[in-house]
Amino acid sequence: STQNSYATLILHWYDQHQRILPWRAKTGTIPNPYHVLLSEIMLQQTQVATVIPYFNNFIKNFPTLNDMAHAPLDKIMAMWTGLGYYSRARNLHRCVQEIVKQGGAVPKTQEALKALPGIGEYTSAAILSIGYNQPYVPIDGNVERITARLFAVQEPLPSSKPALAMLAKTLNNHEEALVRPGDFAQGLFDIGATICKPKNPLCLICPLSDVCKAHQEKIADLLPKKQKK
Ligand code: ADE
Repeated sequence: STQNSYATLILHWYDQHQRILPWRAKTGTIPNPYHVLLSEIMLQQTQVATVIPYFNNFIKNFPTLNDMAHAPLDKIMAMWTGLGYYSRARNLHRCVQEIVKQGGAVPKTQEALKALPGIGEYTSAAILSIGYNQPYVPIDGNVERITARLFAVQEPLPSSKPALAMLAKTLNNHEEALVRPGDFAQGLFDIGATICKPKNPLCLICPLSDVCKAHQEKIADLLPKKQKK
């Protein structure tokens, strides 16, 4: 039904429980695509709590994408120290320089975003949904876990990745999600991080428990399965 669609449940939960994070647009304001790009590159391999002070420091030193593009690589590398996966910082610098060459606006198409260094399927979908409210679903480990549980997918990761991606992309087939793709994506991230956790998921307070197949079968904590190495 309309009221109980995945999208409705996720968005209503997000309106009440979203985490306050420095890269998020304040309610009623337009997202800053530069903030979204920077945060999503930092969040590719690093936890939210670790990213927060780095993100704030970058924005303080480079208030605009143009400022970052004109900074020396050494300064960016020094500020990245401690975040790890340093190729991200080198790619970020090349990425913002390329964007400035193209006119200075973060691209608005998946094709143009994926042509930039360090931006792939996940990051382009995150920038388009969160930064530009386009109906993409960024699929990270959180979204795969929620999807595996909602549909009680028994096939183990990583071979289930394509099936989980197809299912995850159906979650926003609903008018309400299509109007707010950024909030929908971030609602999935927040539910994955705070409720639908890898161990000890908090199904009792989950907005999706009534529509979650794994919860109904009492197997939420057993999914997603992982292929034995
Ligand atoms: N993980 C990746 N991107 C995120 C975001 N925008 N908010 C919270 N967690 C995230």
